[in-house]
Amino acid sequence: MKKIALGVSSSVGIYKACEVVRGFQKSGVEVQVVMTPNAARLISPLLFSSLSGTKTIVDIFEEPLARTVGHIALAREIALLCVAPATANVIGKFAGGVADDFLSTLFLASRAPVLIAPAMNEAMYLHPQTQANIARLKALGAEFVEPEKGYLACGDEGWGRLAEPEAIVLEGMRLIGRTASLKGKTVLVTAGPTREHLDPVRFLSNPSSGKMGYELAREAVARGAETILVSGPTSLVPPAGARTEFVQTAAEMQAACLKAFPKADIVVMAAAVSDFRFKAPRARKAGKIEIGSTLAVEKTPDILALLGKKKRPGQFLVGFAAETHDILAHARKKLAAKNADLMVANAVGEGKAFATDDNSVRIIAPSGPVQETGLLSKREASRVIFDRVEAAVEKKRR
Ligand code: C5P
Repeated sequence: MKKIALGVSSSVGIYKACEVVRGFQKSGVEVQVVMTPNAARLISPLLFSSLSGTKTIVDIFEEPLARTVGHIALAREIALLCVAPATANVIGKFAGGVADDFLSTLFLASRAPVLIAPAMNEAMYLHPQTQANIARLKALGAEFVEPEKGYLACGDEGWGRLAEPEAIVLEGMRLIGRTASLKGKTVLVTAGPTREHLDPVRFLSNPSSGKMGYELAREAVARGAETILVSGPTSLVPPAGARTEFVQTAAEMQAACLKAFPKADIVVMAAAVSDFRFKAPRARKAGKIEIGSTLAVEKTPDILALLGKKKRPGQFLVGFAAETHDILAHARKKLAAKNADLMVANAVGEGKAFATDDNSVRIIAPSGPVQETGLLSKREASRVIFDRVEAAVEKKRR
């Protein structure tokens, strides 16, 4: 029987946490409730102990006289850490790495998936600091069940009401059920732009943020793969659990990919590699007059095409095609030219795909219909892409 920890903090939505306990139990999961000391002032821990059948944990210093340390032992046992309701305070502590009670310590000690259901006053929820904390936790891999709009305890109408218990349990069960389908496999992902310098202060690049590639790497880690992320310059937090190697130029990205390629089973090249570099880069800043009005460029190595040539039968290669027009035709051409097994095509320009949180992709295989995802968050898109990759790898193996 799987065990989860349900963190309960001091929002008025706390009464719904009872339903969350019941929902997880009905789904066949054992629940250990962990309350913050403030939550224990709103509702007696006894209520949760009776519901869950296990003594509710509140005090970090009230540990059994055993050789195991409570929060560390629990951290290792759980298949999920779900916090519902999560106050602005708990979210802020998690985001800042503060560990001053059992729940916040458990968060740092655990490597289980984390699901957070915020509940608070609208002004607190929408405060840029809370939103920044949420963004930080999402970047670290935590999942959220967003609060709803409705009547709040303070008498206001607005955003901040705890999501319905069924929605929280459903998302929690999805995270628990996520199988380690890529266990034993090595996945190489490239992400972000490359920078091709003319001199120390000028470079050729593109607006890629790296978000798509980072989400793909995160998804590979979640599926149990040994994950190597080769990243161009981005401002993102590297996904926990992936081995991230930072590069600047296409040549450096090529070297890192060639090194990792022999052990990779699946390669997903989401990087927007600069296609050109300056023919004569300079070590010192060049004056405008010295540069003149034309600059000679040359092509960078096409890493995907190179890996396509080196590909062994068991290896699976996925390319990305960012296009402004004739998307499918261009993507099909690239699929063949680069000897890739799948091509993920997306529209760029006019605010689409580059540096956004959402993406609408089309997945193209050498034969068969094109799979269109519609507009998805990049996190959701990465799930769809890996589902498709896994299905195609299985088909190729048979
Ligand atoms: O030809 P194009 O740049 O549109 O191809 C896009 C795909 O090829 C992406 O998967 C990208 O990561 C990869 N690519 C590469 N090396 C290049 C250019 C693109 O690996 N120099």
